[in-house]
Amino acid sequence: MKNIILTGDRPTGKLHLGHYVGSLKKRVELQNSGKFDGIFIMIADAQALSDNADNVEKVRQNVIEVALDYLACGIDPNKSTIFIQSQIPELCELTYYFLNLVTVARLQRNPTVKEEIKLRGFNKSIPAGFLTYPVSQAADITAFDANIVPVGDDQLPMIEQTREIVRSFNSIYGETLVEPNASLPENDICSRLPGLDGKAKMSKSLNNGIYLADSPEEIKKKIMGMFTDPNHLKVEDPGTVENNPVFTYLDAFCKPNHLQRYLAGYNNLDELKDHYRRGGLGDTKIKSFLNDVIQEELMPLRTRREEYQKNIPQVYKILLEGSREARNVASQTTQRVKSAIGINYFEDADLISKQAQKFAHQIKS
Ligand code: TRP
Repeated sequence: MKNIILTGDRPTGKLHLGHYVGSLKKRVELQNSGKFDGIFIMIADAQALSDNADNVEKVRQNVIEVALDYLACGIDPNKSTIFIQSQIPELCELTYYFLNLVTVARLQRNPTVKEEIKLRGFNKSIPAGFLTYPVSQAADITAFDANIVPVGDDQLPMIEQTREIVRSFNSIYGETLVEPNASLPENDICSRLPGLDGKAKMSKSLNNGIYLADSPEEIKKKIMGMFTDPNHLKVEDPGTVENNPVFTYLDAFCKPNHLQRYLAGYNNLDELKDHYRRGGLGDTKIKSFLNDVIQEELMPLRTRREEYQKNIPQVYKILLEGSREARNVASQTTQRVKSAIGINYFEDADLISKQAQKFAHQIKS
């Protein structure tokens, strides 16, 4: 079996550090491992429209932002196919057939969709396209025969739903589609990076994030203003490390050599945490250390982004070529799906000749 990756993001905002540790970093590692027969990275603009039908401009503007974020992270168009979802009409076609394999009740049980419906206040007036986007996500994944889907844990219900659709399809129409597996970040911190305000999740809607495209000055300002332990008022006060986002970010980003270079006197993060717990370690000190660490991590991204920003038409060309390539693959899968279902009339010589015989017989008798 081939090893194929598909994943993507909705272009409803710029990508942030949560996306970076939760998924983007892993994608680049997988890409550079050379172990894959195909890597498809999709800008899910059609899915973004499922709750932005009247706000297309937002989606249009963010397509290029997300593309630049991908390229900045090190997704290499020579190794990975970056494409725009709406440019692959076959994905709609597959969705239409897959919808018959899912019940409305099952869609309403999807925990991520449920949470999003609450968050958006849809209540009883849920757009049908929104409720069914997990089915279109099954089309995105299966169209490329992807067996590996690198995502954050909020996407697990989508992968589960895709697996159910694949099993149902294959059992009705015969082995046709590949059942995918999610590939999650190695640790919990990376799965769910909290916001700068200490809230459960960094998210564009809460505006509590550090964006990959932020300038060094913006990043510093955000980090220096971060939420810490609200009871740690004076340097001498003992502090709490748990649920203190500065330490959570350090857990996610700090490597042993960072301490040597930026904050000598501590051999590892545990020593730093112990000092904070004991008291005598100020928030400013840990925040500036975090700032050094994050700035270093994002520096190569910024350099690559600046290069691509100089030639935006070229970035659109990368997307055009990626979309052509992706369409080619998706259209072959769609042919396979239609023949499995039996709606490939014009290629089915057997059907045509049998029908011809049937009607010839009727004329004679
Ligand atoms: N739902 C994903 C997001 O909100 C985007 C997405 C669309 C996706 N289709 C996908 C992710 C297929 C993985 C696989 O960002």
